[in-house]
Amino acid sequence: MCGIVGYIGQNDAKEILLKGLEKLEYRGYDSAGIAVANEEGVHVFKEKGRIAELREVVDANVASSAGIGHTRWATHGVPSHLNAHPHQSASGRFTLVHNGVIENYVQLTREYLQDVTLKSDTDTEVVVQVIEQFVSRGLDTEEAFRQTLLQLKGSYAIALFDNENKETIYVAKNKSPLLVGFGEDFNVVASDAMAMLQVTNEYAELMDKEMVIVTKDEVIIKNLDGDIMTRPSYIAELDASDIEKGTYPHYMLKETDEQPLVMRKIIQEYQDENGKLSVAGDIASAVAEADRIYIVACGTSYHAGLVGKQYIEDWAKVPVEVHVASEFSYNMPLLSKKPLFIFLSQSGETADSRAVLVQVKELGHKALTITNVPGSTLSREADFTLLLHAGPEIAVASTKAYTAQIAVLAILASVAAELNGQSLDFDLVKELGIVANAMEALVDQKDEMEQIARDFFTVTRNAFFIGRGLDYYVCLEGSLKLKEISYIQAEGFAGGELKHGTIALIEEGTPVIALATQEHVNLSIRGNVKEVVARGANPCVISLKGLEDEGDRFVLPAVHPALAPLASVVPLQLIAYYAALHRGCDVDKPRNLAKSVTVE
Ligand code: M6R
Repeated sequence: MCGIVGYIGQNDAKEILLKGLEKLEYRGYDSAGIAVANEEGVHVFKEKGRIAELREVVDANVASSAGIGHTRWATHGVPSHLNAHPHQSASGRFTLVHNGVIENYVQLTREYLQDVTLKSDTDTEVVVQVIEQFVSRGLDTEEAFRQTLLQLKGSYAIALFDNENKETIYVAKNKSPLLVGFGEDFNVVASDAMAMLQVTNEYAELMDKEMVIVTKDEVIIKNLDGDIMTRPSYIAELDASDIEKGTYPHYMLKETDEQPLVMRKIIQEYQDENGKLSVAGDIASAVAEADRIYIVACGTSYHAGLVGKQYIEDWAKVPVEVHVASEFSYNMPLLSKKPLFIFLSQSGETADSRAVLVQVKELGHKALTITNVPGSTLSREADFTLLLHAGPEIAVASTKAYTAQIAVLAILASVAAELNGQSLDFDLVKELGIVANAMEALVDQKDEMEQIARDFFTVTRNAFFIGRGLDYYVCLEGSLKLKEISYIQAEGFAGGELKHGTIALIEEGTPVIALATQEHVNLSIRGNVKEVVARGANPCVISLKGLEDEGDRFVLPAVHPALAPLASVVPLQLIAYYAALHRGCDVDKPRNLAKSVTVE
């Protein structure tokens, strides 16, 4: 979602801001802007559309060594030049960028801005105008900023510039992510570490309800009472090359290809010195001893959670419920006596999941976050964290994080199973190794996937994915992949459920992708395929070696059936990729979507 970059130092701020914003593009946005300051004043450039379009309107002749930049994912007001950030106060003295949602902006407008004509439809503009109102009452900028922050309800990461003090950027955060990065003769702020890697890899995290005074020589963090806070800094373990596409045309393709590597990395990270799978600290016992586990997640992570439920129940014998975070938050089920909450989130910043985490912590329950981003909000605020070790995932469509989540959940379930006196009847390390090899073979068969995409998805407007058991969960993920990047309406269905209504939508040529990797339901899913074929569907059966049948379109290499989701999802990711590509869609940055959904 929206992204912020700020720089104050000695080099050309424009270029640093634009490059930083390019690194935040993956989060999803529909307009962008920067403000840079020099002796003539503050210069604002903004544009609807991509950073490339913003670059065209930035005046190359404006020299500056300080500025703030923003990518906007519209919430209040349509994507437009007018609503794009930065926003300025009525006098033009204050310039501000903001991520998040100010819930009480209407009340603030009524209370403070009766005499101000707002130029945009955004909640953000209200903030910068209120700051100016406080200054007009005699407060200095820092105090006006603090007083304004005390009035705000909702989520925000903010960077503010004062035309009368161009040596300082004022920033603040509540719920929306924001980091401050340190350098020699400069300092930076950014929504994530990737945007600052071009200049520094040393950064500190800001906590909710903190404000920071940033100059080129100093970073002062304060709470909203004005007390100075100390904060350790970290070195980002990211290599700038981790976040480059290299020779790939799209991040999604690169990240799909990286899955075998990620599998091997996970096996390595979760093995002890004797080669035995282990998870840190008391995490496994928290799982083994819980009387019920609640997995809370959104989107792709939710789909991974469904697979994880099966592992934890089958292997560790602990009951599991999987919940969509945005529903759980407002409609909490009756909880068991000794629950453990598992938050699954690639980014670790998803606002819907975080809202649940805050609720369950207030209730005094234990929480484990499984995430790809160390130090992310969900990781910091949970009792325990397990990392996915997938490396940065930039494409909006999640691929390697999904398979990493499933692998980590499998490892967690197997270790908890052992604690509960249950033993797996197969060697998980060996089988995950076989999965990695299978993934390698699958990503090498791109021509085949491209042909399937051409045959099934060139002209269609809708599609169905059917499967039973674990295959059903993968179908949910396969259909999400297809719809989010190719805009084909696609639904994942339990094979047996289609005939209870939705089969009415099947007509001549409707594509139906069926997964057949589970022996105990193989005959049933094949029966379901026959049902749709009898009504004109165009079937594409993807089966597991050993279960294949005449006419199957693609046969997956043999892997342990429990781990089949790790293999069967790969063709679905690639088919979605090629379908989107051939339909001329922007694969890595699909319309209306954000990588990190930081508003509820
Ligand atoms: O970062 P998270 O895993 O918490 O994100 C959850 C969803 O927003 C995310 O998985 C989304 O569904 C992806 N775009 C799917 O590809």
